Amino acid sequence: MTPMIIDGKTVSAAVEIETAARVASLRARGVIPGLAVVLVGDDPASQSYVKMKERDCERIGIRSFDSRLSADISQADLHDVIDGFNADPHVHGILVQQPFPRHLDVEAVVARVSPVKDVDGFHQENLGRLMRGLPGHRACTPWGVMRMLDHYGIELKGKRAVVIGRSLLVGKPMGLMLLERDCTVTYCHSRTVDLPGVCREADILVAAIGRPMMIGAQYVREGAVVIDVGINRTDAGMVGDVDFAAVAPICSAITPVPGGVGPMTRAMLMSNTAAAAEIQTA
Ligand code: GUN
Repeated sequence: MTPMIIDGKTVSAAVEIETAARVASLRARGVIPGLAVVLVGDDPASQSYVKMKERDCERIGIRSFDSRLSADISQADLHDVIDGFNADPHVHGILVQQPFPRHLDVEAVVARVSPVKDVDGFHQENLGRLMRGLPGHRACTPWGVMRMLDHYGIELKGKRAVVIGRSLLVGKPMGLMLLERDCTVTYCHSRTVDLPGVCREADILVAAIGRPMMIGAQYVREGAVVIDVGINRTDAGMVGDVDFAAVAPICSAITPVPGGVGPMTRAMLMSNTAAAAEIQTA
C-alpha cells in the first residue's frame, strides 16, 4: 500500500494564509496583534524555535515582543516579566518557551499568564475549558494535528484513536480533542502493558513519546492513520517517534518528520495569537 503523505507544509501554509487575512482585518481597524515570546536560558533547540516563531510573526504581520532572560532568573523576577506582558495592551499573546530551568516552578509560571493571552493553551483555565467543551485557547501541537486530519478529510467519528504519551503539552489535550470529535480514545504511556497490541487496535495512532523511531511495524494495524509528533535530534539528523520506512507501507496515511506536525505547531500559534487579538479588542 502506498500511504497518503499528510503534508504539514501544505496545511500550515493554508493556516498561515487564513491567519494573515485575520491579521490584515485587525490592522485595518487599528489593532496590531502582538505576541510576547519569553525564553529563559540558552537551550539551543529553544533558541531556534523562538527565532522561527519571531520570523513567522514578521511574515504574517504580528508584532513580536522578545524577552530573553538569564537561566538563573528568580521565580519572582520571571513573574514580574509575565505581569508586565499581562498588563500591556499591545501584547495579545504570551508564550513562555518550555522547557525552562529546573529551579523554576512550571505550574506557577503557566498559571501566571493571563488565560486570555495564553496562546499556548497550557493554563489550567484553558485546559479546563477544553475538558468542559468550552471555547478557549487550544494547545498548538494537538490543535495542529486536528487541523491536519480535517484538511485531509480523515473521518474521526467512531474511530479508535490511540495516543502514546500523556504530556500536558501534547498527549493529554490530544486525547481530549479526539474525544470531542467522537473518537474512542485510549491513552498509552511508559507503563502500558502490551503497548504494540494496544496500538494495533488504532484506526488513528498518534505517537508523542520523544523516543527516536520507536514505533515500528508491529505497532500498526494495516490501513491505520499514523501521526508522528516526535522531533528527535540524532546523529543521523531529525527523526520522529515512528520508523517511517517500516510503517509507511502498512498505513493508509502518515505524517513525515520533518515536514509533518512540526510546521503545524507554529502555524497554530500564529492563529491563536490572531484569535487572542480578536477577542481582546472585540
Ligand atoms: N516547547 C515545545 N513546544 C512548545 C510549545 O508549543 N509552547 C511552549 N511554550 N514551549 C514549547
